[in-house]
Amino acid sequence: MTLREKVGQMTQVSLESLASSRERQGSQFRFDRQALQRAVGEYAVGSVLNVADQALSASRWREVIGEIQETASQGTRLGIPVLFGIDSVHGANYTREATLFPHNLGLAACWNPDLVRRCSSIAARQTLASGIPWSFAPVLDVGRQPLWSRMVETYGEDVLLATRLGVAAVAGLQSGGRLAGCAKHFVGYSMPATGKDRTPAYIPKHVLREYFLPPFQAAIGAGVATIMVNSGEISGTPAHACKWLLNDLLRHEMGFKGVVVTDWMDVMRLHTIHRVAPTLKEAVRLAVEAGIDISMTPHRLDFCDLLIELVEEEAISQERIDQSVRRILMLKHGLGLFDNSVAGSLQDLHQEGDRKTALEAARESAVLLRNWGVLPLDAETRVLLTGPGADSLPALFGPWSYTWQGREETAFPAGLKTLRQAMAESIEERLIYRPGCGFRGAPQIEQALQGLEQADVAVCCLAERSAVEKPGDIEDLSFPRPQLQLAEALLNSGKPVILLVTAGRPRLFTEVAERAQAVLWAGYPGSAGAQALVEILLGQVSPSGRLPFTYPRSSGSLFTYDHKNSEKEDIHLGMKAFNPLFQFGQGLTYTDFEYSNLSLDRDKMKSGEEVRVSVDVKNVGGRAGTEVVQLYVSDLYASLTPPCMRLRDFRKLPLDAGEQETLTFRLTHDDLAFVHRDGNRRAEAGDFEVRIGPLSERFRLI
Ligand code: GLC
Repeated sequence: MTLREKVGQMTQVSLESLASSRERQGSQFRFDRQALQRAVGEYAVGSVLNVADQALSASRWREVIGEIQETASQGTRLGIPVLFGIDSVHGANYTREATLFPHNLGLAACWNPDLVRRCSSIAARQTLASGIPWSFAPVLDVGRQPLWSRMVETYGEDVLLATRLGVAAVAGLQSGGRLAGCAKHFVGYSMPATGKDRTPAYIPKHVLREYFLPPFQAAIGAGVATIMVNSGEISGTPAHACKWLLNDLLRHEMGFKGVVVTDWMDVMRLHTIHRVAPTLKEAVRLAVEAGIDISMTPHRLDFCDLLIELVEEEAISQERIDQSVRRILMLKHGLGLFDNSVAGSLQDLHQEGDRKTALEAARESAVLLRNWGVLPLDAETRVLLTGPGADSLPALFGPWSYTWQGREETAFPAGLKTLRQAMAESIEERLIYRPGCGFRGAPQIEQALQGLEQADVAVCCLAERSAVEKPGDIEDLSFPRPQLQLAEALLNSGKPVILLVTAGRPRLFTEVAERAQAVLWAGYPGSAGAQALVEILLGQVSPSGRLPFTYPRSSGSLFTYDHKNSEKEDIHLGMKAFNPLFQFGQGLTYTDFEYSNLSLDRDKMKSGEEVRVSVDVKNVGGRAGTEVVQLYVSDLYASLTPPCMRLRDFRKLPLDAGEQETLTFRLTHDDLAFVHRDGNRRAEAGDFEVRIGPLSERFRLI
């Protein structure tokens, strides 16, 4: 291969840059032939990504990718197939006919790794049926900054939950061997100090290892084929320029052997944004030296020219280029692209059960946070349905839904139901709908109150306007004032109010949440979301979701459940600092569960031993339900301030009314360990407390 052919393989451009601008809009797509020939022919670019504007049909995708492969085959000396990548982050969300699942934050509320695997497997199949062999998923960032616009894409704030669900997602995506997953965004991207996307994170290395690396390490162990780099910086060093991160840690310590792809324009942003490179050429040198293999340089080709210059000047070695090209060609070969450059087959697009899995996920993703007896609604209750989420598809799907921001109703395929449409199918004669308020503008409160006069209860759908990445940056974690005014007015009527919340992060609504008779939260539940939420409201399905994050009471208390003791209370005034509106792991069902007989098989544990924990769980209510049994461990004293507790295991437990089961867990030495300042994980002798439900027991590690 010539140097230009090698460097071309390390270059990825966007489909948008190859589109004729006239038809870039809408669900049609036309190439700018000249742009296509220049990028894929002349520059022999090795990868193309993304949608030009909005989702295409699977058959149109196959045509588009076929044209790209034809250009590569006929227009280059070697005819190496192009690797096409796309963000199928909650289903094949850029394929019009695909099934969309809850976003990861909603899937995390299911606490169900097998369900995540099955959803990911369908997403992979439908992405492949579209001819696309690379999905930029799963997001393995741990969502510990509730202001961040991409919390919606994370599996929540806990490391164990994110790790187990991330591994399940990789298994589901890659099980067929013909689609490459992409663990992203390595690493520490989810912790911007200000909450604004792509702004500095200040994370000490031992904290990075404790809270942010484990999901990536587990994904590498599960064989994830590619990794995408964090666009931000950690303590002053942009991830894309950090050789310690991308080479020493990722390759040598964590053992990753696959392909590392940059995020959007992030090589050039080392110069234009982060300003650690005085020139674009220096930016290219820094990133390639740090260890990137493919540069996502969506709209420009000068990455190629600059890298060629650097190699010719011997500022970058040929060996370094060959290292990346080898990984890229191995990936393409492993995906079978040299045999079949348009991946998969159209007839695999739909399978019996896809819709059923989406409904199962949507049902399990809903979290009932309060119910003062008003739910489930009975067969006579007349319902006022109102609020911006009541008759909105974006409110159920969130970002990355047919378009990047997921806001354009016109981009959604026909046949998808809003909450209003789904509810009307069930209780039309008892349903009164009033918009109440939109995502912008003043609320129409009088109109909503008139509707309430004809109703017994109000279901007020608070919704976060779909947004992600920089467009999703916010100035205030609270729900917009008009939505809160609408809810207040409904509450002031004295009639029962049910708040139904769809959002991608915990937007504050304390003043109304504390007065509502019920609060139901759903993290953008996807294609079957409307049906699932109506079934729960009407009692046809019992909710089983549990919050995968802490729901703050106020903007000054953005703590996680595994906060430190000093955050638990103000030792000077005895005030309760950690006092969330709703707790991590919280969620109700339409029955009740009782815990008893928590027991440990020893009160002392030696290194290398295990503690066997058992507990009885009983469904003491009148109907079947599913409990999520969560085991937490507290290290009572340690050489680094210990978190109040850490989740160390969990299990979903469906029980019929009156049924009881004994669960057994095993605590290992590693479950008691934490990362020390020297970067090593180890446990310290001392007292530990095990907590399950309201019960707790102690033991000593000696
Ligand atoms: C975006 C996102 C990344 C995505 C990529 C391609 O900027 O940060 O998650 O995979 O670009 O769309």
